Amino acid sequence: MAKPITFSCTACGAVHNKWSGRCDACGEWNSITEDVPISAGPAKKSLGTKRGSRMDLSDLRTEETPPPRTGSGIEEFDRVLGGGLVPASAILVGGDPGIGKSTLLLQAAASFARAGLKVIYVSGEEATAQVRMRARRLGLSDAAVQLAAETNLRDILTTLEAEKPDLAIIDSIQTMWADNVESAPGSVSQVRAAAHELTNFAKRKNMSVMLVGHVTKEGQIAGPRVIEHMVDTVLYFEGERGHQFRILRAVKNRFGPADEIGVFEMTGEGLAEVTNPSALFLSERDTPAPGSVVFAGIEGTRPVLVEFQALVAPTPHSQPRRTVVGWDGGRLAMILAVLESRCGIPFTGLDVYLNVAGGLKVSEPAADLAVAAALLSAREDVAIPPDTVVFGEISLSGALRPVGQTENRLKEARKLGFSQAIAPTRSKLGAGDGQGIRQMSDLTSFVGEIFGAG
Ligand code: TYD
Ligand code: MG
Repeated sequence: MAKPITFSCTACGAVHNKWSGRCDACGEWNSITEDVPISAGPAKKSLGTKRGSRMDLSDLRTEETPPPRTGSGIEEFDRVLGGGLVPASAILVGGDPGIGKSTLLLQAAASFARAGLKVIYVSGEEATAQVRMRARRLGLSDAAVQLAAETNLRDILTTLEAEKPDLAIIDSIQTMWADNVESAPGSVSQVRAAAHELTNFAKRKNMSVMLVGHVTKEGQIAGPRVIEHMVDTVLYFEGERGHQFRILRAVKNRFGPADEIGVFEMTGEGLAEVTNPSALFLSERDTPAPGSVVFAGIEGTRPVLVEFQALVAPTPHSQPRRTVVGWDGGRLAMILAVLESRCGIPFTGLDVYLNVAGGLKVSEPAADLAVAAALLSAREDVAIPPDTVVFGEISLSGALRPVGQTENRLKEARKLGFSQAIAPTRSKLGAGDGQGIRQMSDLTSFVGEIFGAG
């Protein structure tokens, strides 16, 4: 019997039995493509008919020493990895084309080589001369990194087998071609197969592998989400094209905390570490302006101050605009609804724009109160005092809920010269935190105290 034709989503890898314009699993448009069947061998007997070999079982108490890690010396990178590179680990670095993945990984390759690892960098996108030119520009020409320009996976694995590096970098997984899979490089089947071969090889041969994956919007080639489940660590390199800031974020990490971020700045000589991101995200702030509020946030294990900016203006359209950059649109809608129904402050007939300065993406609910403050400040045209940070979660009832790590948030705020804070009641304060902090139980009292209305 002929195998039924299946379709896969190039964004998330979900398998469908018919084509459609939009993937039900991830909501992406135009991302579904027909799978080319891998030439199937004779039908296999069910697994139950032939005995396999017995597995070795062990109990939970079995002592395992934590893996020895190697630091690259690029602190922002090592922290995102969970404290350095774990041997035999598979890491995916995803990001938009042109965001700086190749630059970052070439710098990391050179640093790991300096730290004593044997590193091979395989580019499927650029000629070795091009990579060398970039290395020269980055001042890395003397690093002991071995280069190759190759896309044939069989040749790559054979070379890695012979060379036995500690770390192989594959740039990018979408250019790799496994000759046992009958579809074009970049298709879901090819990307999956190549990632599977490489991660398996890494585990068996005790080599670490870093895979570059382009995030794609068009659905012509498979995105990195297709292989997220195969690797130990998933890092995304984010940033706005127009901004020089880049954020490396761990969205999954078997060897460390997820949500950890590393902050970089794209300069003429490659990526430079930003060790004090708060100062950077706030640097463009001079005079207090209505609509601008500083949020004391936590990214991973690190406190970061970020500025929320809101603009509220009468709309010329029948349907007012809600535009958000760097925060969740659904969460904005919720806060607008709470302001309207619990505090009686409507936003009907008003366009609302919300932006996180510096290109950071904030996902903490702790930013709710900062968002509400920015919206109100913009709507009422009243500036929040410039030495104040704001944080707290808002519930649908309009109550303010305390958030974690209050002490760390306040410490970072004081370090950067913010002496005042607005936070929910029952926030867990450290010794000496009481001064300058105003604690409130609900959004209505916040509106009353800060804006004298409500
Ligand atoms: P690249 O690492 O090639 O991006 P990706 O691999 O994610 O596609 O970086 C591309 C951009 O970075 C390119 O537009 C030029 C810029 N860039 C710098 O600004 N400074 C530098 O030192 C380098 C090497 C690149
Ligand atoms: Mg690249």
